[in-house]
Amino acid sequence: MIKLIEKLPKAELHLHIEGSLEPELMFELAKRNNIKIPYKNIEDVKNAYNFTNLQSFLDIYYAGANVLITKQDFYDLTWAYILKCVENNIIHTEIFFDPQTHTQRGIAFETIISGIVEALKDAKEKFGITTAIIMCFLRHLSQDDALKTLEEALAYKKYILGVGLDSSEIGNPPSKFEQVFKKAKEQGFRLVAHAGEEGDVSYIFEALDLLDIQRIDHGVQSIKSDSLMKRLKKEQIPLTVCPNSNIELKVFENYAQHNIKELLDYGLNVTINSDDPAYFKGYLNQNFINLYENLDLSKDDIIQLVKNSFNSSFISEDLKKEYIKRVEEIVK
Ligand code: ADE
Ligand code: ZN
Repeated sequence: MIKLIEKLPKAELHLHIEGSLEPELMFELAKRNNIKIPYKNIEDVKNAYNFTNLQSFLDIYYAGANVLITKQDFYDLTWAYILKCVENNIIHTEIFFDPQTHTQRGIAFETIISGIVEALKDAKEKFGITTAIIMCFLRHLSQDDALKTLEEALAYKKYILGVGLDSSEIGNPPSKFEQVFKKAKEQGFRLVAHAGEEGDVSYIFEALDLLDIQRIDHGVQSIKSDSLMKRLKKEQIPLTVCPNSNIELKVFENYAQHNIKELLDYGLNVTINSDDPAYFKGYLNQNFINLYENLDLSKDDIIQLVKNSFNSSFISEDLKKEYIKRVEEIVK
């Protein structure tokens, strides 16, 4: 089965590009930009990645992003992830970036987006990988800050397919961002949001009803509401589930306790993703393998999860068909 997981072409729909910053590149960029980081060596970094919840991770993740300064840095970061896509057989990826993490430090929006876009262009040319960019608002900041960010992003609209919502969930409900999502919708952006990662089901209801999102990032708390489960099944609203992340951030105690198999068996449209792979011990294939080794996932379950990822992506119907045909060719 592990061979099959590796061979299957896959889509990734929940990946923070800043979360793909490996310690080796962090050190290289710190040196290149003369930035101090609070680690002596790679070993030291890895020891620090010992999280107790989402916030304990976010503190370290934002500190890590401080080494990203130039367009070349954003290119190198994105290119390193693209090489992981090749290794993991990811043929389509929709990546998140957090502009406010960088603009707050005085980095220009142009610098960030141009480095990412150039690497994604090379990914298409060299490997045929298709991509999209989703800009996330940091929910621990104000809606006014998000509105300013949306305004700034309009100059780069042709590169940005959608907007999302991430960072510290509890205490920062979707209702805080109703106006900015309404504006983003008017501008034609696709809409997604992190909801029900640590937060209760009210965060998911708000994301659906007030923000009008098309995909729920995480959403694993849905299981606590019968009416929500029924609605998610009926409407086939995708959940971008991130197993390694959920274990590392103690949303579930271990892989055997993860509820993805229950969500799948109930008939929800769930997908598997890596979230912040440099921080959560592995890229997409490793997420599949960890689930396969600890839950009773069948070959059909794995194929279903992979097909769901293409069907839940923002690509054209024709491209979905083409990619799903490629999956079927591997499994026949
Ligand atoms: N930013 C990066 N990873 C995140 C996660 N899992 N939840 C919320 N915000 C994030
Ligand atoms: Zn995430």
